[in-house]
Amino acid sequence: MLKKAEYLADREFKVGEVDEKVFSSFAEHLGRCIYSGLYEPGHPEADEQGFRKDTLKLVKELGVPMVRYPGGNFVSCFDWTDSIGPKEERPRRMDYAWASIETNEFGLDEFVDWAKKAEIEPMMAVNLGTDSIRSAGYLVEYCNHPSGTYWSDLRIKNGHKEPYNIKYWCLGNEMEGPWQAGHLSAEDYAKKALEAAKVMRWVDPSIKLIASGSSYEMLSSYLDWDRTILMELYDHIDYISTHAYYMNKNNCVGTTNYLASYKQLDTHLKATQTALDFVQAKTAKEKTVQICLDEWNVWNFSDIVFNSMSDLIGMTTFKMTSAKPWEVAPSILEEKYSLLDALVLGGLAITLLQHVDRVKIACLAQLVNVIAPITTKRNGGILKQSTFYPFLHMSQYGRGEVVKSVVKAPKYESMYGNLPIVEAVTVYNPDDSTATVFALNCDQEENVEFRAELNHFGSVTLVQHIVLDGSDLEATNTFEDPENVAPREIAVEADEAKSLTTVLPKLSWNVLRYSVDKQ
Ligand code: AHR
Repeated sequence: MLKKAEYLADREFKVGEVDEKVFSSFAEHLGRCIYSGLYEPGHPEADEQGFRKDTLKLVKELGVPMVRYPGGNFVSCFDWTDSIGPKEERPRRMDYAWASIETNEFGLDEFVDWAKKAEIEPMMAVNLGTDSIRSAGYLVEYCNHPSGTYWSDLRIKNGHKEPYNIKYWCLGNEMEGPWQAGHLSAEDYAKKALEAAKVMRWVDPSIKLIASGSSYEMLSSYLDWDRTILMELYDHIDYISTHAYYMNKNNCVGTTNYLASYKQLDTHLKATQTALDFVQAKTAKEKTVQICLDEWNVWNFSDIVFNSMSDLIGMTTFKMTSAKPWEVAPSILEEKYSLLDALVLGGLAITLLQHVDRVKIACLAQLVNVIAPITTKRNGGILKQSTFYPFLHMSQYGRGEVVKSVVKAPKYESMYGNLPIVEAVTVYNPDDSTATVFALNCDQEENVEFRAELNHFGSVTLVQHIVLDGSDLEATNTFEDPENVAPREIAVEADEAKSLTTVLPKLSWNVLRYSVDKQ
């Protein structure tokens, strides 16, 4: 007898609309994300601007609507004015954050051009670590002011007559962390971010601002940081940013706990929401500040030297095994993602969708080569990593409205408590009258019978079952074997289609697509 999971979802009870910006991503000047990821002049796939067409194609396939740029830790040492104007005059700099050489060959204007070709909206971060409030204002002016001023005319001189009208702006990156250049106390960050917000909005009142929030529980300031900065910034911002990465470096948490990472993300997002709700209640504001999860992923820190999570506390320098300091575009942070990593990412995607009532932007960190679903070879091909697929499925089929759902199933033990062996979420898409259930079977031994009851959806038929699973959790995709980890379709039998009872293979990511009645 198979273990059974009963799942109930109801169209009449909504969690929230999915803002498509939760399918966003992130491109940092880090390793080979930009150089030989997005941009590689001379490559057989390079277009006239040096942008890799093979990368553009996969970015479009992923359906990413927005990409955050240029960092990350990188932004906190970055002088954006280095990255504009004639390429031959741009300075070659030491990027202190990642101990690399930044040639500035690809800069702000190239990113905006790339974004247009990728059909994505650019999202910018300003340097609130080592740069000034005035510089943040100038950057908005360069990007968004039509013409007739020094900075806007410089943009025009650099070949871009029309303003970029960049809407989403991050007020610094991970400013809570001691590893951040120009790291500040919460009080000092609040003051600086407030002044930057003021100036940036004077230049363009229409922009949306994202404060740099708390991310890592291991920091003693976790959440106190949010409370402190929100008390000062609440009226001036639209979102608070938070980051979440999950790992099993050297099997430090073990497969079961790693799989259960989705539960930790749930706790983390609830914690951020609690900080927001506290400040909203305390200050009696009507306005609701939303959550911007602008970095999330699985990341096993494969080439960063440390032994346990506690080593990360107070760490200000990352020691890398993959490259020597001060190389141009070194091959660092190039995680090779396994089937297990893809399953964990699927679990995180489920949690993300469960929180769409408050998470309105989310950026998979990152897009290409650096902890990314896409890998390129310098002067070579392109590869979809295992994690490409759950993200693709979420972006393809996760659009619409998330409805409330519950699961009743046997439990497994994890460091986050006893959890049902199946975790799931349902997204109803009124445009094509489908409901998609994303389900992760965490049972490591057995297939599970999954019975879905989709209430208030009218006549429901299971039309497609996509699954990502396999016998080897460590399997990865390589240039030699690019489809080693790839989804497959399980044929839907006629009785299954109507009874809505199907089998989720052991340890699998599942996309169950149902046709439903129009509402
Ligand atoms: O995405 C890699 C790094 O992770 C980013 O630069 C930083 O913001 C985070 O710590």
